[in-house]
Amino acid sequence: MKKIVVLISGNGSNLQALIDNAATGVLDVEIAAVVSNRADAYGLTRARDAGIGTEILDLREVLADGGSRDGFDVELAGLVAAYEPDLIVLAGWMLILGEGFLDRFPDRVINLHPALPGVFPGTNAIQRAHEAFQRGEIKRTGVMIHRVIPEVDAGPVVTMEPVPIFPDDSVEELEERVHLVEHNLIVAAVDLLLGDYED
Ligand code: GRF
Repeated sequence: MKKIVVLISGNGSNLQALIDNAATGVLDVEIAAVVSNRADAYGLTRARDAGIGTEILDLREVLADGGSRDGFDVELAGLVAAYEPDLIVLAGWMLILGEGFLDRFPDRVINLHPALPGVFPGTNAIQRAHEAFQRGEIKRTGVMIHRVIPEVDAGPVVTMEPVPIFPDDSVEELEERVHLVEHNLIVAAVDLLLGDYED
């Protein structure tokens, strides 16, 4: 069975979508480990509840111990590589990864971003889309999954899906709609990509 490692920083609802679909067999994959840069990420609880091994590597601790940012990336890469994943999924991972990490897994790292390609990179993408809609600058938003390069929320697009915005939407309503699309798209993208790899 193909293996993935999922990197998270927080809630882990997209991780949960992967866990649930792997459990029912919709997704033919083993989630070999969940790695978080924060010990308090709720996604770690989701992983433990599903019997999945977890790892924590906190950048702040690495830096406080005299380590470097690049050293963090290299250490993280070593930790992930030990699981021999076919694919690495950034699902709400909030740190930029440099070449010290990415060079170890060419074309094997994907990221989920709650916006369409080229717009609203970085944090608070859904809120920024909501505000842009209010100003009449955009008509819709979306979700994309892309291969990871050092530039934040950029890189070749694997798949994307537009999400409508309605005039009466609160930001919370828009967030809920975007997250529902994310939970389906992340599963579809992992399924699609793993189908490309040799057993
Ligand atoms: C998602 O909206 C993802 O696109 C963004 O961070 C959020 C993570 O949500 N990068 P969760 O932790 O999977 O619930």
